[in-house]
Amino acid sequence: MRQIVTTANGGVEVLKIEQRPDPTPGPGEVLIRVKAAGLNFADILARQGLYPDAPKKPCVMGYEVSGLVEGLGEGVDQTLLGKAVVALTRFGGQSELVVVNSEQIFEKPDSLSFEQAAAIPVNYLTAYALLAVMGSLQPGEAVLIHNAGGGVGLAALDIAKRLSAKTYGTASPGKHDFLRQRGLDHAIDYRNQDWLAALLKLTDGRGVELVIDPLGGGHWKKSYQALRATGRLGMFGISTASANGLRGKLGLVKAAWETPWFHPFGLLSKNKGVFGLNLGHLWHEREKVAEWMRVILEGVRDGWIRPHVDKAFPFDQVGAAHAYMEARKNIGKVVLVP
Ligand SMILES: NC(=O)c1ccc[n+]([C@@H]2O[C@H](COP(=O)([O-])OP(=O)(O)OC[C@H]3O[C@@H](n4cnc5c(N)ncnc54)[C@H](OP(=O)(O)O)[C@@H]3O)[C@@H](O)[C@H]2O)c1
Repeated sequence: MRQIVTTANGGVEVLKIEQRPDPTPGPGEVLIRVKAAGLNFADILARQGLYPDAPKKPCVMGYEVSGLVEGLGEGVDQTLLGKAVVALTRFGGQSELVVVNSEQIFEKPDSLSFEQAAAIPVNYLTAYALLAVMGSLQPGEAVLIHNAGGGVGLAALDIAKRLSAKTYGTASPGKHDFLRQRGLDHAIDYRNQDWLAALLKLTDGRGVELVIDPLGGGHWKKSYQALRATGRLGMFGISTASANGLRGKLGLVKAAWETPWFHPFGLLSKNKGVFGLNLGHLWHEREKVAEWMRVILEGVRDGWIRPHVDKAFPFDQVGAAHAYMEARKNIGKVVLVP
């Protein structure tokens, strides 16, 4: 089988296609013939050497796939053979074949292409955990979605609409029309102006009840300031530090330096809450994650979950796929097809 290997820290030239022996499923596992694999911002950060959770290099990245069940290990339900599925993978997803525990697969909704199905797990589970679970977004509340035009951002917008929240989103200006068409109430250009001042103007100085922030560093401080009383801040990334080589390392140091400290007395007196999310650290909570996935897939059937694939790149153009995301060209998801 062919796999996408991140051979070292560096630019897109470190990404190579390599041949490896086909894997075989062990007890409780299934073998999936991959039709599409999700590309995530974490894969870019891992290549840049800025993602502490990445496996040691050389490594195969990839948290999610869609495909067909081609083999079964001992003790697995025989009716799964040949089924179209979507699966979470603990790395290694960017391969022609993957082996996963049968608890990590979910039936692919017929209405979705394989590319669309591969766009679901990471983006929608992250957004669901941030908004519906930890952020507890209520009808009529206001939410600020940073990077609203990205994969997680668009997923968060679908979920916020479903929860009848008022939606504000930051994004590059070229993405605003698309975001409005998807139902975003207020698009904020955060590349050319102070987004906090713009948000406060739009909310008559009140702010919002929930901010989800993958930018990190000094943005977390501003996002906290954007909270109305009873507001919550969900922190889940440091995309602001993304860059190759020394610039990335310096970006990380700058982000760490600008990261705010939240004191319990400050939270208490201001009626604010802060939380963090790392989906990749929830493997020991499979039942919870599986339940969220069931709600999301039900949402596909009911029409309120609408995964948007911007572009599908063949495996051998993985470098171009990384470059596309790094240049902020994508609106929604980028997937890789074997
Ligand atoms: N903690 C978790 O469990 C978890 C799970 C999934 C994702 N994440 C994080 O969430 C963030 C978004 O992920 P995603 O998969 O939605 O990514 P994505 O689809 O690539 O979207 C990211 C968007 O962020 C903006 N951006 C901000 N800084 C950027 C930079 N330095 N380089 C490139 N783009 C930048 C761009 O939008 P504009 O053009 O509008 O600026 C870009 O389109 C990432 O930080 C990722 O690590 C965390």
